[in-house]
Amino acid sequence: MSASKFGVAVIGLHMGQAHFLAALDHPQAELVAVCDLDADLTSSTQARYNVPVGTTDWTELIDRPDIQIASICAPDWLHREMTCAFLDAGKHVMVEKPMAHTVEDCEAMVEAARRNNRKLMVAHVCRFYSFFEDAKRWSQDGTLGEVYYVETSYLHNYEQIGGVGNWRFDAEKRHPLVGGGCHAIDLARWICGDAEEVHAYGNHYNIPVQQWEDMITVNVKFQNGAIGRILNSSGCQRPYNIDLQIWGTKGTLQGDNTQDTALLSLREIDRHQWMRVPKPTMAKAVASELGHFIDCVVTDQTPLIDGVDGAKTVALAWAAIESIRTGQPVKCRNEF
Ligand SMILES: NC(=O)c1ccc[n+]([C@@H]2O[C@H](COP(=O)([O-])OP(=O)(O)OC[C@H]3O[C@@H](n4cnc5c(N)ncnc54)[C@H](O)[C@@H]3O)[C@@H](O)[C@H]2O)c1
Repeated sequence: MSASKFGVAVIGLHMGQAHFLAALDHPQAELVAVCDLDADLTSSTQARYNVPVGTTDWTELIDRPDIQIASICAPDWLHREMTCAFLDAGKHVMVEKPMAHTVEDCEAMVEAARRNNRKLMVAHVCRFYSFFEDAKRWSQDGTLGEVYYVETSYLHNYEQIGGVGNWRFDAEKRHPLVGGGCHAIDLARWICGDAEEVHAYGNHYNIPVQQWEDMITVNVKFQNGAIGRILNSSGCQRPYNIDLQIWGTKGTLQGDNTQDTALLSLREIDRHQWMRVPKPTMAKAVASELGHFIDCVVTDQTPLIDGVDGAKTVALAWAAIESIRTGQPVKCRNEF
């Protein structure tokens, strides 16, 4: 491996496929190892992409000197153990969303990154989708004025995607608002900043095997005065999408990750009309995500979604789950 390249290991080869393809494409990355409990998947991936190391045991990779970056794409409940072990071995870690299944897990991961002075990034891929990047910019550069309301949705029927061994239907390992809804929570937090309080409702009509609510709506009060609503359905009888609406004093933007246009209305032009804004697909988002992480390692910058940011998203989700249980508004934790 050339000295200017970072050795990358990818653990978990389903979502991990997008990560190892991004590593193969990146000029400063060298895909050193792939790992999955599924021995056939590991060996076929290793052979097809000519990867030096293939293993079913991720702990074999921890101390390898030719690995500098671990990309953790195993199921949610494994993120803490794997992330902390790689950080403690001096590696930088990019971990798939959600950062972890529980707030306590996130706490441990933030602490491991701090004590080892290593980069930790949570792969909230929506932040690398160019339309959502535009939306973020327009919410900050005055185009939309002052943002006073945000609406985000993560709508995805999980009936057929329990994951290997159906881990997504195990209440101890996955909560739909934490594991999937984190996309919508992260987007809302990215636009409006830290949340102060949430009040949520949920019900359960569609996926009996899933032990949590499969429809959840969360009202949010942000610290900056904006308010919002986050919607998460894992049982919806409708197409998948991640939707974002930003309401500002000068205009309103509405778009998602699946349509080829978004809607924009600006007071200065005509607030009674929607303009159609063309937009690309999300195809290159994972590559941009890995590129950003490598840049952060090279230039010693904090990643766009560091451990603290990822932890706040998980904490908001659990505050909403607590609100569903108690029927009361719940304060959000923002200190990690
Ligand atoms: N960014 C996104 O849009 C996105 C999309 C899908 C999944 N994800 C995230 O990626 C993670 C994995 O999800 P998935 O859909 O690939 O799940 P999956 O169940 O389809 O695949 C998980 C893979 O991890 C492997 N694995 C499990 N335990 C392992 C271990 N101890 N060591 C090595 N490999 C192990 C399994 O064999 C399997 O191949 C989850 O955290 C999920 O939230 C993110």
